[in-house]
Amino acid sequence: MCGIVGYIGSNDALPVLINGLRKLEYRGYDSAGIATIMNNELNIVKTKGRLSDLEEKLNGMNLGKSTIGIGHTRWATHGAPSDLNSHPHTNMSKTIAVVHNGIIENYIELKEELQNKGYKFASETDTEVIAHLADMYYNGDLIDTLIKVISRLKGSYAIGMISNEHPEDFVAVRKDSPLIVGLGTGENFIASDIPAILEHTRKIYLLEDNEIVHLTKSGVTICDINKNKITKEIFNVEWDVEAAEKGGYEHFMLKEMNEQPKVVHDTIAQRIINGKINFENFSVNRDTIKDINKIFIVACGSAYHAGMVGKYLIEHLAEIPVEVDIASEFRYRNPIVDEKTLIIIISQSGETADTLAALREAKKRNGKILAIVNVVGSSIAREADDVIYTWAGPEIAVASTKAYTTQLSIMYLLSTYFAELKGKITTNEAKKLVDELLDIPEKLKSVMSRASEIKELGSKYYKERDIFFLGRGLDYMVAMEGSLKLKEISYIHSEAYAAGELKHGTIALIEQGTVVFALATQEALFEKMLSNIKEVKARGASIIAIAQEGNEQLKDIADHVFYIPKIEDKLASILTVVPLQMFAYYCATIKGCDVDKPRNLAKSVTVE
Ligand code: AGP
Repeated sequence: MCGIVGYIGSNDALPVLINGLRKLEYRGYDSAGIATIMNNELNIVKTKGRLSDLEEKLNGMNLGKSTIGIGHTRWATHGAPSDLNSHPHTNMSKTIAVVHNGIIENYIELKEELQNKGYKFASETDTEVIAHLADMYYNGDLIDTLIKVISRLKGSYAIGMISNEHPEDFVAVRKDSPLIVGLGTGENFIASDIPAILEHTRKIYLLEDNEIVHLTKSGVTICDINKNKITKEIFNVEWDVEAAEKGGYEHFMLKEMNEQPKVVHDTIAQRIINGKINFENFSVNRDTIKDINKIFIVACGSAYHAGMVGKYLIEHLAEIPVEVDIASEFRYRNPIVDEKTLIIIISQSGETADTLAALREAKKRNGKILAIVNVVGSSIAREADDVIYTWAGPEIAVASTKAYTTQLSIMYLLSTYFAELKGKITTNEAKKLVDELLDIPEKLKSVMSRASEIKELGSKYYKERDIFFLGRGLDYMVAMEGSLKLKEISYIHSEAYAAGELKHGTIALIEQGTVVFALATQEALFEKMLSNIKEVKARGASIIAIAQEGNEQLKDIADHVFYIPKIEDKLASILTVVPLQMFAYYCATIKGCDVDKPRNLAKSVTVE
């Protein structure tokens, strides 16, 4: 959960490193640091706090122009945020500096071994063992050194390493942590993610595990741990720099909510050709679908909530049994998986440690893996048998919004696709659903256009300590997502509850003035939902209802009804979630919370 940037070229490395780290702060932001080489001396500047704290520290120094450097923005895993625990870490003689993202699982034994050999540690981090191992193995060749170092490491790592004895070159490697190479003209880069280097180059290498990268300003070579040369295909990035910037919005989250109509359109429309759903290179087809007798959907957080909607749709439309699992549970519960099981792994970042581990568990059991991810070339994407990308573009805000709604879009497409393959729906029924799907972006726009209505609700309820979200069926699954959004960015406690379950205990918490969101978009369950609303109303709750246009029955009982445009009930979730996203956003902004970087959270949870 950290961000790494590295540069070698003819320009001043410092601004490249700082600007790159700024684009990576979503990966971690409790400390930051850089290392450059000047007159064969290593300059290390690092600090606890935000990148702005590092810049302040640098402004007070005159480092001069260096053309090589590495940088790091940290999310603490071993060792609390502090100056000493910040990266880069060096060997004792300060001739080697390293930055690292990941967890060295055997660092304690390595640390003991190194200490017994006289190495003194300055920090509490696992990373520092890399710097001292490099010192121990250094033989004048950075590639050799790095290969020897990683041969000792267990766990996950993306490493950048420079040495004052090598002002013209540096090395890098990754295993189970993201790292890419940027290819410039007379300059080259490494970074944890594409936005960090997008302003310099669109040409990148997507690294595989244990590919050692050697960079000079004129070229990049890659080899395996036996120093066999590896030839890579250049990946041309389509994103423009704007796409990774705020684009004029106050927060990335607001920008990303407003991008939902477009990215949902992109995710859906490009897979509908001549009115039919088409997944390119997807091995599940009319022949192989009959080999699937069980589906698991495995994910974390918002991706898990999208999976809950997927379960409902696949079972209703395709009639294939589906189990939805939180990845951190799935990976340890010895799941019953075999070659007839399809495991759908959902992950925005494609790097979530628990989700990646769940994928590997399923693979060990011969399950067939379909990944639904947003980051091209991410670890989960590369280890799956099939990949369907959500085309949400970079999601920078920690709170997932457009990634979630594009994941729902894929669930809609997939469930319809499976249903048609299995003959559970006719071509006409599939076409009707497809037409409804194509109408979603416009309906999303209409919901987004009523942000001020939600902002008013936010200003009315932002001081609440507890807020409940109730729903039945698909509305219950959206209630879970709405509750998570509110908790993670406004810090208001919240619970999502199956409305029918309330009377089995939790209704005891409802008292005068308790705020309850009642999601009532599902026609078949409306009467039941109405009686649940009456139950909580009778106990003094303030009700904010979400219903489809034309439903007049809630006006007399709810304190406020937010109407979503008429839509096929099965597809309502993608509209219902938007007022909940916006409510969370406005409560958080009115409370003055750090919306894009909420406390205690990082965008990509790449450690257990
Ligand atoms: C969503 O708002 C959260 N930030 C978090 O729950 C997130 O959905 C979860 O960590 C999964 O991330 P992933 O989709 O990148 O795997």
